[in-house]
Amino acid sequence: MIDFKAVIAEEMAKATNIEKEELQQWIEIPKDTNNGDYAFPCFKLAKTLKKAPPAIATEIKEKLKIEQNVITKIEIAGGYLNFFVNKMTKTKELVKKIANQEQYGKSDFGKGKNIIVEYSAPNIAKPFHIGHLRTTGIGQALYNIYQYLGFHTTSINHLGDYGTQFGKMIEGYKKWGKEYTFDEHPIDDMLAIYVRINDLCKEYENVLNACRENFKKLEEGDSYCLEIWNKFKTLSLKEFQRIYDMLGTTFDSWNGEAFYSDKMPEVIELLEKSGHLTESNGAKIVDLEDQGIKTPCMIVKSNGSTTYDTRDLAAILYRARTYDFDKCIYVVACEQDLHFRQIFAAAKYLGLQEKYLNGLEHVSYGMVRLKSGKMSTREGTLIKLEDLLNESIARVKKIIEEKNPELENAEEVAKKVGIGAVVFHNLSTNRIKDQIFDWDEVLNFQGETGPYIQYTYVRIKSVLEKVGTLSKPEEINIEKLQDEYSLKLIDILYHFEEILKQVIEKNEPSILARYLIDLSKAFSTFYNENKIIGEDKPLQEARTYLTYMTGKVLKQGSKLIGMEMPDKM
Ligand code: ARG
Repeated sequence: MIDFKAVIAEEMAKATNIEKEELQQWIEIPKDTNNGDYAFPCFKLAKTLKKAPPAIATEIKEKLKIEQNVITKIEIAGGYLNFFVNKMTKTKELVKKIANQEQYGKSDFGKGKNIIVEYSAPNIAKPFHIGHLRTTGIGQALYNIYQYLGFHTTSINHLGDYGTQFGKMIEGYKKWGKEYTFDEHPIDDMLAIYVRINDLCKEYENVLNACRENFKKLEEGDSYCLEIWNKFKTLSLKEFQRIYDMLGTTFDSWNGEAFYSDKMPEVIELLEKSGHLTESNGAKIVDLEDQGIKTPCMIVKSNGSTTYDTRDLAAILYRARTYDFDKCIYVVACEQDLHFRQIFAAAKYLGLQEKYLNGLEHVSYGMVRLKSGKMSTREGTLIKLEDLLNESIARVKKIIEEKNPELENAEEVAKKVGIGAVVFHNLSTNRIKDQIFDWDEVLNFQGETGPYIQYTYVRIKSVLEKVGTLSKPEEINIEKLQDEYSLKLIDILYHFEEILKQVIEKNEPSILARYLIDLSKAFSTFYNENKIIGEDKPLQEARTYLTYMTGKVLKQGSKLIGMEMPDKM
């Protein structure tokens, strides 16, 4: 496919003697199509060329020699150079590309680069709640998209399976384990024990000390403590897996915090060697004042136990060595912004290559609140993600029963739509913003939602079915697709790969979610304004082909963000 941006940059480079790469990064896609398909802001060159933007625009325009079958027109507007691409060429290219590529937009753009995406990371023996949806969904989408663009990707579920709280759990289990079956709702049982022991710890110092002692024993490999800990872990993972299956979440590695238990002595040694490990009230800390962070990193507690921070430092070391990462992305809530600033700062004292330090990136995100205000962070009153997903499925089932009682496979469709709605909503807003979860919005089939995209796809399927045959791409009469609505659709389809690149540049899957909405809307307009099936056979064939291409991109894009498409709904 012609990379119009690259062609423009190349020709501009010849006209200005400025590097092509530099020019290309400034080329924009104007919001208003009256300003062309691509625009170059000439003020970017004002300093280098020591001229005013309009003068630069005029000068470059005169020197530019771009073939008519690529760019039909160049206009100057307010210091911008606006480029109008040849729509026939664009359409032809798009058809050829989508026809020839099994997975449109897939590339080897990231070849040779290793990317780690860490996401989900729930805590063992605790509920998997709606807060976990954000990390799990954003992380999986990023993983899928990096992989699609040819990066070598590794996903890691850094389970919270270690720490003082397990000392507490063990103590609670010793006291009351027999009262619970851990059968039907094992996580509820474990949580109940945790709440009970926590309350007791608040009252009795000696209980708290026993808990701390348990964790120390666990770290030392005590077989009884290990056995209970293993039981908790196995029970929890089985519960989590049910949710991962619903969401289509996968991991290449399940190395959680406990995995680093034997890898921490080296961290302590390295920090000591660097001269940055200091004593403070019997604990060992790394002071970060000179990096502008007031709170130090806690490495070893006064009772000799290691910490969450230490395990994260060990993980950085291990990941650098094992995966030789170019980027190590942590999809973790904004509550932990400080934690990541701390460990990234402390990591500088581990003697790692600059490359690894620069590759560490915290992809932060805001909180979710239910519109009803029911979401409380107090222990035990969280909304469980599984309940939320099941409720969504049940609501969709009801809608189907009302609107389309004849629908075959209603159960399966309700699952895809119910889960898809939640998955899509989760990714639909800028990740750093807090999110309000409102059923009326999430399940609005006419709104900017997952079901709306799915519904568009189903309509596409039914058009294709009605027409029955799809012409060969080389037989399509491109001239039949030069009306306003077809061209709008073609424009959006053309930008798919560019959109994927924007997603990974900002680690922001909402860009793709937004794109899928725009694509669905453009299709709806095209569909309402243009009769697809009719007397004019070449016209019908061309429009059918455009419909087919739209369906293909909608499905592929949705798959990348973790939303499945029903065939009917
Ligand atoms: N388990 C932690 C929690 O639930 C999140 C872990 C984040 N990842 C990390 N490498 N620290 O809060």
